Amino acid sequence: MALPNLWALYNLRSSPFFQATLRADSGVTPLRLFVGRQRERQLLLTTIGSSVSSRQAVAGRPGIGKTTLVQTVKSDAQAAGYWSSDEIIPISAEGVGEQLLGQLLSGVYDAVLASHPTAKGPEVEAAQQLVRTIRLRGGGLTFSAFGLGIGGSQTESVATPSGALLLDGPRVLRGLLSYAMAQGTRGIVLHLNNLENLSEADAVRAADLLRGIRDQALLHDGLHLIVVGTTDAVRTVVQSHTQIRSVFSNPLMLQPLELDEVQMLLAHRYEVLQLDQARPWRSPVENSVVQRLYELFRGDLRGMLKALEDGITALLGLTSAGAEVAPVGLEDLLLTLRQRNQAELQEQLGSTAWDRLLAWAQVGTAALQTQAQLVDLWQIKQPSVSQTLQQLIEAGAVEALPRRGREPVQYLMTGTARLAL
Ligand SMILES: Nc1ncnc2c1ncn2[C@@H]1O[C@H](COP(=O)(O)OP(=O)(O)OP(=O)(O)O)[C@@H](O)[C@H]1O
Ligand SMILES: [Mg+2]
Repeated sequence: MALPNLWALYNLRSSPFFQATLRADSGVTPLRLFVGRQRERQLLLTTIGSSVSSRQAVAGRPGIGKTTLVQTVKSDAQAAGYWSSDEIIPISAEGVGEQLLGQLLSGVYDAVLASHPTAKGPEVEAAQQLVRTIRLRGGGLTFSAFGLGIGGSQTESVATPSGALLLDGPRVLRGLLSYAMAQGTRGIVLHLNNLENLSEADAVRAADLLRGIRDQALLHDGLHLIVVGTTDAVRTVVQSHTQIRSVFSNPLMLQPLELDEVQMLLAHRYEVLQLDQARPWRSPVENSVVQRLYELFRGDLRGMLKALEDGITALLGLTSAGAEVAPVGLEDLLLTLRQRNQAELQEQLGSTAWDRLLAWAQVGTAALQTQAQLVDLWQIKQPSVSQTLQQLIEAGAVEALPRRGREPVQYLMTGTARLAL
């Protein structure tokens, strides 16, 4: 059964508030919806174009537009003669350790095939074999095989590849890159996404492992790497060791888009999703709504888009079909979102954490708090504060701000929590 499309009330094909990252190969969330960030886009491209190999990092708060920016830069680079793929290679805390080399090789292999489907020859075959093995083993090669002394588990059901093959990783990577260059590409752009905030110990370990593969895998001619992550993770992993810092350019710290760019972002989406070309699209929300929500979410586009989608869906659900609908106003939307987010958070958090969030809201929903301040406010010991914070962060109610030097970390309520309170 076809479900009725609520967005048709505004002459739109589907929700203009989708939260997906833009991709070159997507008809639904195409890259031409990209707005702003001209300076950052140019900066990343210039660095790629200025040397035979490069390493860059893009950092920023959740939902601010990091992944989408790099998707756009890859497509710009492709237009300029580089090879790349739309694939977004996730790196996780453990992944950085055991799997980075495997991910690099497999990413380069994907980029080669995506840009040059007829690729063949000994270098390509060698890479294909190794990549197949890596994927069978769940993404990684054990680093011990590369002489780094870190053991890894072996999957029993998979035939253990010969040690020679594993030792060959860096050489195979280099071979594949030379092959690509010989085919006339200017280089390969690889996008490693979502380096998350890591515990201190994990981050140090990740940085050590990165240093360990630096010469074998990060510095090859033709390889252009862009690592994306939260501000703290990028700082710890990329900047803490001189040997890594010295081969990465300064991280690009993304700032929020301006409000008028956000209005433009939405207008582009309405245009692309226009249902009946004979009639104009209509904005589902008043401008004041976007302005207020964007303030609450402080640059978190993903959070704002989700609030718009949830709120309007709930409101439109009450509208009878065929009714004349006006753009949703601020009061109605805030009321709906308050009820919705309250119910959801309360349920997710349980009464203790919820009550603590309420106590915080009484100080001010925009108030910054440190762990020491929360010890006072909540009248509980530090370990419980830290545990509660973890719970609030996981529920999407609280966000830790990037560290500033030696100062204690500050915590802030997210837009989602502020809407609930
Ligand atoms: N410059 C832009 N132009 C148009 N849309 C954008 C832009 N930046 C981000 N968006 C949209 O905002 C949303 C969030 O973007 P994106 O996924 O890139 O953020 P992120 O910082 O990578 O988020 P996360 O921290 O969750 O990984 C997506 O729906 C994306 O399409
Ligand atoms: Mg992202």
